[in-house]
Amino acid sequence: MDHFLYRDGALYAEDVPVTEIAAAVGTPFYVYSTATLKRHFQLFDDALAWGDHLVCFAMKSASNQAIIKLLGDAGAGMDVVSGGEYLRAKAAGIPGERIVFSGVGKTADEMRMALEGGIRQFNVESEPEMIVLDQVAQSLGVVAPITVRVNPDVDAKTHAKIATGKSENKFGIPISRARDVYAMAAKMPGLKVIGIDVHIGSQLTELAPFEAAYRKVAELTETLRADGHEITRLDLGGGLGIPYSRSNEAPPLPTDYGDLIKRTVGHLGCEIEIEPGRLISGNAGLMVSKVIYVKSGEDRDFLILDGAMNDLIRPAMYDAYHDIVPVIEPQPGAEPAKYDIVGPVCESGDTFAKGRVMPAVMPDDLVAFRSAGAYGAVMSSEYNSRPLIPEVLVDGDQFAVIRARPTYEEMIARDTLPEWLV
Ligand code: LLP
Repeated sequence: MDHFLYRDGALYAEDVPVTEIAAAVGTPFYVYSTATLKRHFQLFDDALAWGDHLVCFAMKSASNQAIIKLLGDAGAGMDVVSGGEYLRAKAAGIPGERIVFSGVGKTADEMRMALEGGIRQFNVESEPEMIVLDQVAQSLGVVAPITVRVNPDVDAKTHAKIATGKSENKFGIPISRARDVYAMAAKMPGLKVIGIDVHIGSQLTELAPFEAAYRKVAELTETLRADGHEITRLDLGGGLGIPYSRSNEAPPLPTDYGDLIKRTVGHLGCEIEIEPGRLISGNAGLMVSKVIYVKSGEDRDFLILDGAMNDLIRPAMYDAYHDIVPVIEPQPGAEPAKYDIVGPVCESGDTFAKGRVMPAVMPDDLVAFRSAGAYGAVMSSEYNSRPLIPEVLVDGDQFAVIRARPTYEEMIARDTLPEWLV
């Protein structure tokens, strides 16, 4: 469910015509729907209503402070993976006790920042990290609450670049070593073990891998409790997938996922945490772009847009599919066209889609990339000296720019010349 629908022949973001935003901010741009963000958070919150829980939004998927603030106001916690994300969450008003710190390479500085500013827990991913966290906490005279992220060696059946739960991946500690690592943690005065963490990958379109992982976590909970550890919280990660192609994908719903959690770990009496990103933000955002040229090649037509791989890298990086639709609704029965849809960046990888059949469009027409709210703006860059594109938030009939497009001057002024070159 999203709130980007055709109305009176044109695409709307909630009650705002997309053309009106384009006229105000220029193209390309990202636009997010408040109603979709809130609704998707609520679906998870309701799916876990059977027990004590906290839904921590994975900020890596969309980290604009306006998005963080509105989800925080709805009751969300945040899953952060860097000092920058931690400070962004704090700046958006999220209290430390609702921020979870994940990530495989936390530095001592980042640990200090979070311990001083307040943190719900660290999800520790290795013995060396545990040793550093213990030292940092002791130097500050505090105790750091931790879970250990275990790697359950489960195949998430997703794209290789976003699978994290196999033994060959860099994440977590092998579940076979968990008892030793927990025993080691229990002896460290700067740490307090509170639970277990697991995350097996992203864009999972089946529940079976989650089930396999969560059953292993349940078993480990019993083992660790028998060893004398107090396991009161389970962080079950993120990863539930979304339908990128409306016509032929139907991944499991948050409610099925909530039932699965109850079935696999519900009997343990632990507080449940999850870290969904994509399912909350993905279908809550569009990237809107303008057609610059339609160019005839030897055997195909190229649709050349003003948006490029630097603005939305998912197709180039993961061969990801995004629905691309005209902003002005095509007439019923209009002849479809077939395009390779590309951006202006100087490499062939700057291709959004090959041989895509869609309604014919012309130069200056607007097109919208659907499902671009997650891992879109956050992964953008200024490659080819293309300024970062703006982000806009819609709420009902109002919209606001939540990150402005830098001017060329601002972008260039960030470089400085060493004195010997001046
Ligand atoms: N928790 C941890 C520890 C994670 O590593 C991730 C995602 C999440 C939660 C959130 O997963 P989600 O619910 O969003 O699937 N850039 C890639 C996705 C990378 C995901 C990385 N980790 C893409 O565009 O598909």
